[in-house]
Amino acid sequence: MRNRYKVFIQTFGCQMNVHDSENIKEYLKSAGFELTSSEEEADIFILNTCMVRNTAEQRAIGRLNSFYRHKINRDVLIGCAGCMSSFYGHKLKEKIPQLDFIVTTQDIPDIVDIINIAMNKKVFRNYTDHKFIPDNRNSLRSNDFQAWVSIMKGCDNFCSYCIVPFTRGREHSRYMEDILEEIRYLINNGVKEIVLLGQNVNSFGKGLKEGVDFPTLLRKIEEIDGDFWVRFMTSHPKDFSFELVDVISNSKKLCNHIHLPLQSGSNRILDLMNRHYDLDLYRNIIKKIRSDIPDCSITTDIIVGFPGETEEDFQETLDAVKEFRYDGMFSFIYSDRTGTKAEKMKDKIDEKIKHERFQRLMKIQEINTQNAHRDYLGKITRVLVERTSGKVKGQLFGHDYHNKVILFNAEKELIGTFANVKITEIGNWAMKGELISKM
Ligand code: 5AD
Ligand code: SF4
Repeated sequence: MRNRYKVFIQTFGCQMNVHDSENIKEYLKSAGFELTSSEEEADIFILNTCMVRNTAEQRAIGRLNSFYRHKINRDVLIGCAGCMSSFYGHKLKEKIPQLDFIVTTQDIPDIVDIINIAMNKKVFRNYTDHKFIPDNRNSLRSNDFQAWVSIMKGCDNFCSYCIVPFTRGREHSRYMEDILEEIRYLINNGVKEIVLLGQNVNSFGKGLKEGVDFPTLLRKIEEIDGDFWVRFMTSHPKDFSFELVDVISNSKKLCNHIHLPLQSGSNRILDLMNRHYDLDLYRNIIKKIRSDIPDCSITTDIIVGFPGETEEDFQETLDAVKEFRYDGMFSFIYSDRTGTKAEKMKDKIDEKIKHERFQRLMKIQEINTQNAHRDYLGKITRVLVERTSGKVKGQLFGHDYHNKVILFNAEKELIGTFANVKITEIGNWAMKGELISKM
């Protein structure tokens, strides 16, 4: 190994992981490590892992094993970060023998110490259970106009299929003043989009002595001066209040997009999933959103093939998806996760049936998306320009106020700014438009 160590970091999984990697990169850079995108040059390999479904876990194990080839000729270290390290702890070494260190989601602030100890060839797990959410001010972001800001971490919901409460630990919120200070700093430094992150942002404030909640936080963010917009994820229907809908509908800064995971349209399955709401409660939230924020885009997550899901249960999911006219959906085939309640349930659904249901669900959602996007034709929408599209010369790529992907032709200088774009062509994945005005 040389004097200035080069680190190769790859990230799998959700925004939470991507954001954790930004923080890892910042800790390493400040301590004098260099980041590299070349495997051949790297001295240290870190994979930030996801295990929300079995396929994600197998992919991560495969990738970690693939780093092994570099050990044959060189003295390199291989480390695992993210959910797999939190879940398995030291046992991960049994699954992946060539692993040199692990960094749990709680241990990120200690990453430099962990690597230093690993250099003396000890696998180290310092599970300190920090009630600490790192300040994101200096995270090494991929651009300087979009910023993720963690407002809470962990999850106490224990949905019966989900491994997150076991990998990310108990729920805790950041102090509101710290969040606001960080956002003010980011806006003063040119950030145009803030994405508030948490496993269940709606339960922000629980356990804090400050006596605040998510709508309070959003109102405070609204008061910050500047031309920026705010998104948040993820919401849980059981904590999604009418007050929150009011805050969004009265806000100039909150984007008109709500991601509200339904998971299943059957009350019986929702109960087995331990979701703590039924279809009527969910329907009332959707009705309130549709009436108070008519142009709000709504997206969801659905799991097909949960243990015991009958054809009737699944039909109820299809009916709900039709009724709620989602703009978009992430659909997942149920996957057994070790240690969860659902893993121990009987009546597992045959793989063939799960896949067949998945296809039927996708067909319904395709029609929903087509219908939702038809309304955009001819409309002018505000877009944050993120990058060139990479496909067509001169074409730019961004997301609009409703979180739709928008492609249009304009000069590259617009990247990092807002633009008004008229939609001229719709598609399910993206819409094309023409530039009307810059801001
Ligand atoms: N199997 C399939 N999908 C799952 N999800 C979470 N756990 C599982 C699992 N065991 C889905 C849920 C969640 C999304 C992030 O991943 O729909 O909202
Ligand atoms: Fe998992 Fe449920 Fe928590 Fe979301 S709310 S992270 S699905 S346990």
